[in-house]
Amino acid sequence: MAQQYRITLLPGDGIGPEIMNVAVDVLKVVGKKFDIDFTFQEAPVGGAAIDLTGEPLPADSLEMCRNSDAVLLAAIGGYKWDHLPPNQRPEAGLLGLRAGLELFANLRPAKIIPQLIDASTLKREVVEGVDILVVRELTGGIYFGKPRGIFASETGEKRGVNTMVYSESEIDRIAHVAFEAARKRGSKLCSVDKANVLDVSQLWRSRITELAKEYPDVELSHLYVDNAAMQLVRAPKQFDTIVTGNLFGDILSDAAAMLTGSIGMLPSASLGSSGLGVFEPVHGSAPDIAGEDKANPLAQVLSAAMMLRYGLNQPAAADYIENGVSQVLQNGLRTGDIMSSGMSLLGCRAMGDALIKTLEEVKQ
Ligand code: IPM
Ligand code: MG
Repeated sequence: MAQQYRITLLPGDGIGPEIMNVAVDVLKVVGKKFDIDFTFQEAPVGGAAIDLTGEPLPADSLEMCRNSDAVLLAAIGGYKWDHLPPNQRPEAGLLGLRAGLELFANLRPAKIIPQLIDASTLKREVVEGVDILVVRELTGGIYFGKPRGIFASETGEKRGVNTMVYSESEIDRIAHVAFEAARKRGSKLCSVDKANVLDVSQLWRSRITELAKEYPDVELSHLYVDNAAMQLVRAPKQFDTIVTGNLFGDILSDAAAMLTGSIGMLPSASLGSSGLGVFEPVHGSAPDIAGEDKANPLAQVLSAAMMLRYGLNQPAAADYIENGVSQVLQNGLRTGDIMSSGMSLLGCRAMGDALIKTLEEVKQ
């Protein structure tokens, strides 16, 4: 009997719906090839949900996610909602989803794609062969720490407050994910903190050091976040797996993504302990090109591959998609964001169709 999965689709805003359509069509091809029976259910999040219901993450949407085997998210946000206060913006929907599903581990791979190496702004010899996985803690740290808010003091002067806080158990669970991930890759883990200044980082560093005893096969190092940022652009090949807290991970994963020069190609996974994960491209909703059929759908497609690999334990199906993506790039097909001379420029739909054709041609 065919394996059955219920997938919640969150197309969100901007280019989200266009790229999601492509990913779903690719998954339908995968389903046929691998005898997998996908049921897709769609729910509003972000700006689309604000327009529809007044909230960036309606309770029904969260419930639908909970009642599925995996969640595929496109992107949220746009100029239209920029004037709203932080807790009512589309971004609040994303943070609510992470917290609501307890997705504490965010995996953000940044791997140079050989066909696109010249898209990097760094020299070829610096980035050739870069293959980094950033493991970012996603439901703690300064993003969620309390107290938080803007408070008026007795003198009437306002103070803005956020709190960077990590408990031992929060550090331990992300550390285990990172050590395990490093073990499956190059067996090198670099933990990034600011232990020369922050108490929270001192606890972070001591827990990571303690847990490293359980992973003698993984080589552990520590860097302060400022140095890590510098090393990422100076000599990125020294890194294999990086583990860090929520805020540092937000910043460093963008820097790591840009090493590849093609943020339109990068997927990510957010995982919890229940096995349910959310899979989404690293790039945003690109409202400037929304609805123009110019978006690159490949990060969304590769997010679907990550969903198969990390969320549904279907590594062969993930390989099949990833190989198809390499093949279309090898054939010289490009969307605008990764275009270079001599290549063929395609729109979002045409890129999706070319990929589907390539996938259908693969002999199993
Ligand atoms: C990311 C984004 C989000 C974050 C924003 C949109 C809330 O930058 O996923 O990295 O800061 O986590
Ligand atoms: Mg970010």
